[in-house]
Amino acid sequence: MTIQIIRAAVLHFPRQSQTPAADIQYFAAGGLVIDDGKIVDLNDYGLMVGRYPDADVVDYRGKLLIPGLIDSHIHFPQTEMIASYGEQLLEWLENYTFPVERKFADPVYAQKIADVFLQQLLRNGTTTAMVYSSVHKEATDALFSAAQQRQMLIIGGKTCMDRHCPEWLQDSAQTAQRQSAELIEQWHGKDRLYYCLTPRFAPTSSPAQLECLGELAQQYPDVFIQTHLSESRQEIEWVKSLYPDADNYLDVYDRAGLVRSRAVFGHCIHLVDDEWSRLSESGATIAFCPSSNLFLGSGLFALHKAREHQVHVTLGTDVGAGTSFNLLRTMGDAYKVCQLQGDKLDPLTGLYMLTQGAAVALQLEDKIGNLNIGTDADFVLLAPDFDTLSTLRLRDSSKTDNPADIIFALSMLGDDRAIAATWVNGCLAYQQQEEQLYAMD
Ligand code: GUN
Ligand code: ZN
Repeated sequence: MTIQIIRAAVLHFPRQSQTPAADIQYFAAGGLVIDDGKIVDLNDYGLMVGRYPDADVVDYRGKLLIPGLIDSHIHFPQTEMIASYGEQLLEWLENYTFPVERKFADPVYAQKIADVFLQQLLRNGTTTAMVYSSVHKEATDALFSAAQQRQMLIIGGKTCMDRHCPEWLQDSAQTAQRQSAELIEQWHGKDRLYYCLTPRFAPTSSPAQLECLGELAQQYPDVFIQTHLSESRQEIEWVKSLYPDADNYLDVYDRAGLVRSRAVFGHCIHLVDDEWSRLSESGATIAFCPSSNLFLGSGLFALHKAREHQVHVTLGTDVGAGTSFNLLRTMGDAYKVCQLQGDKLDPLTGLYMLTQGAAVALQLEDKIGNLNIGTDADFVLLAPDFDTLSTLRLRDSSKTDNPADIIFALSMLGDDRAIAATWVNGCLAYQQQEEQLYAMD
């Protein structure tokens, strides 16, 4: 394979940082050198031409190259029920989610939607996602196979639920444990795939099921864990009545051994102080899903509290409760949620949360999240000039090299039109075509 130099403005965060705006690495006229799926050099383009005389040059001048975006909370079977009207969490699950997830009992259907789902990620610049599958093992196989074909780094898991949902969507404590173990053995660490233990949330898992998954967490200390925590007030009251002995909602998971690093808790809107402290000391991560929280009317996540308690926070679209696959737009929603609380989310901190911050939280920063030498070549080309309005808005920032302003404006104005191309593992995985913008597919 020939060495390639990607010529563009380049922005990333090379290290873990508490102050991302101060820790960027930026090349206005950069060159990213890739070879055999890995990043092998990054510097000013002018320095690269002499150093790699035989390399192919891919010219993306006028575009801004950033690391592939990381979505830390999304549901693949909910792709087709995005933007379903009118309900808050528990009714939304009953009325829309469970009936749609039932369709994934059919592996052929699951495979079809897995393709659509991954294509949506790529056209939005998302190269890694932490994904809830349905309760079905075969649907989870379909997701992993589709990701493997595209060489994507995907973290996924079979959703486990053994009560308080329709009978046709239930597993049991034992089948959840057995099937999750089989999926770990088959997929975890294979190519770029990782397994994630996935109890849906405390109301739909019996104490026995949580314990079974906790056993697996102990048996496989490097697998990921994901679930929902403290999303809606009604849900929290329900959990209190189902687990009267637990100190708080997080404690339900903690007693089962499910609170640790590489565990990602979605939402965390209504936490009490003990939960904040425990999340902090355990090294667990919160997936902040602002679009979903606004859509379901769940509440406003307190990002300032997470900062105070030094808890890892990543961003998730939470499609189908989130209304866009686009993580830059999701970051725009996070900005608005912070504004409603008198807080500010600066665009470089937002971008850090979508890239290096997420990689650090998930302990994957030696592979993804940055453009350091030796990491996997997953990256995205942003188009600041994707339409008339963005061109007008950003012409000065593009001239004066203000990448923070470009990121901010795209987080407000952008969508998949702002994604010119997405590269995965050193290969072009998606390129925007003019006609694709208007295709009725
Ligand atoms: N809580 C339990 N399941 C779900 C889900 O599918 N989506 C959201 N947003 N919250 C949940
Ligand atoms: Zn969710």
